[in-house]
Amino acid sequence: MHKIDIELVEMTMDVMKYTIDRISSTNPKIGKPKKAEELKALVGETITKEGIGGEVAFKKWRKHLMKANVPVDHPRNLAFVPAAPTRAAIMFDLVTSASSIHGAYWMEGAGGIFCENEAMKWIVSLTGLPEGAFGVFTSGGTAANLSAIVTAREHWREHDAFKREKGLIITSIGAHSSIKAMAKVADVDILLVDTEDVMYGLDLQKTIDGLTEQQRTRLFAVVGTGGTTNAGIIDDLEGIAKICENENIWFHVDAAYGGGALAADSVRHLFNGIERADSITIDPHKWMFSPYDCGAIIYKDPELAKNAHSQQGSYLDIFKDEGAHGFNPTDYQIQLTRRVRGLPLWFSLATHGTDRYKEAIERGIELAQIAGRLIEENPNVELVRAPSLSCVLYRRIGWKPEDYTHWTYENHKSGFALVTPTKWKNGDTFETVSRFCFINPDTTEDDIKSILDSMV
Ligand SMILES: Cc1ncc(COP(=O)(O)O)c(C=O)c1O
Repeated sequence: MHKIDIELVEMTMDVMKYTIDRISSTNPKIGKPKKAEELKALVGETITKEGIGGEVAFKKWRKHLMKANVPVDHPRNLAFVPAAPTRAAIMFDLVTSASSIHGAYWMEGAGGIFCENEAMKWIVSLTGLPEGAFGVFTSGGTAANLSAIVTAREHWREHDAFKREKGLIITSIGAHSSIKAMAKVADVDILLVDTEDVMYGLDLQKTIDGLTEQQRTRLFAVVGTGGTTNAGIIDDLEGIAKICENENIWFHVDAAYGGGALAADSVRHLFNGIERADSITIDPHKWMFSPYDCGAIIYKDPELAKNAHSQQGSYLDIFKDEGAHGFNPTDYQIQLTRRVRGLPLWFSLATHGTDRYKEAIERGIELAQIAGRLIEENPNVELVRAPSLSCVLYRRIGWKPEDYTHWTYENHKSGFALVTPTKWKNGDTFETVSRFCFINPDTTEDDIKSILDSMV
């Protein structure tokens, strides 16, 4: 298994050929899921005592299994938050794997961690956080949000009065599901300000003023969103920051999706106030063109994260030794063993330069504006709200929820596009509407037009 033989050489050629074909393809096919039983019937038993051989396994992958996936970088995949890793980043993902680096401690991963930190310096510079702020790459936004919540809670619990209190955080209903899920993991209560639109400082102040004395004692953090997943809305970060400072509460900004837009001059002002946050989540695997998985958590004071996350064990003591000194990513988030997942981003940034990133991100915003105009020109559809960042919510006039679902399936089945419905709060009810989220700069105006034209 660990020997070099002719089979390995052939497998290497096959893998390289597949990779080159895939990354040089400009129009990958939109695959569709099949039931597990169907896939099993197609590929049969793959895990056997003797093994089926790399050639056979790879053939099954190419012929059947790969086709049951939807490539996130398809230009007409505008569902959820898609992705569009650069070809340089994808290639370096292979190099990252081939290099077998343990990315937890400097002692073992100095070269890789150095590169990650170079990329991280650029990301931190976009936030405007003060000198000393820094971050680490995580498996995604969920892990980044959890790392931040735990850091905030541990910092709060440094005070004896709160040692045995169950914490409470405030966010809005527009916040991503991972905030609610991670509050559960951290066993903290969560209170939702009732808006899916911008959460203003005033809404937050009203919510805080309405807390019981006991709730106020337990309140330790507020989570604002820098680009909601559903509609690309940015909370009033300046207003929220001011309240958090006055009330002495941790301010976390979840910019997992929207964080890339910090590089875009056209919308940077919408994020004003983010520089006053205590922690910020940004996912390079969303709008910074990294392959999965690559999230990031940034702290104004990384020492507080270290106090919360640094693991202790006699087998780990060597890493704290003078001879092994350096930046240890494990100390600042929930994972110990970790892939140097910021490495593909570093290579891509080094290859293309930050200006190209800025342009590609601006293109996502421009595509949302183009979609807005095309929707206004098309009598069958109308905007639900003005496009925000790279998200567009629109309705097909006269359609019921089941029409949106049917249309989504039809377009997906024919391999044309993946555009999924969502819901938007309209008064007291939730309306089913259609949604675009643009990440891929290769999406064209024609793509958008054909998708809208297919809503007949
Ligand atoms: C605003 C926001 N926060 C957090 C997440 C969760 O990120 P991940 O899926 O990388 O864990 C998402 C994912 O879409 C998001 O949009």
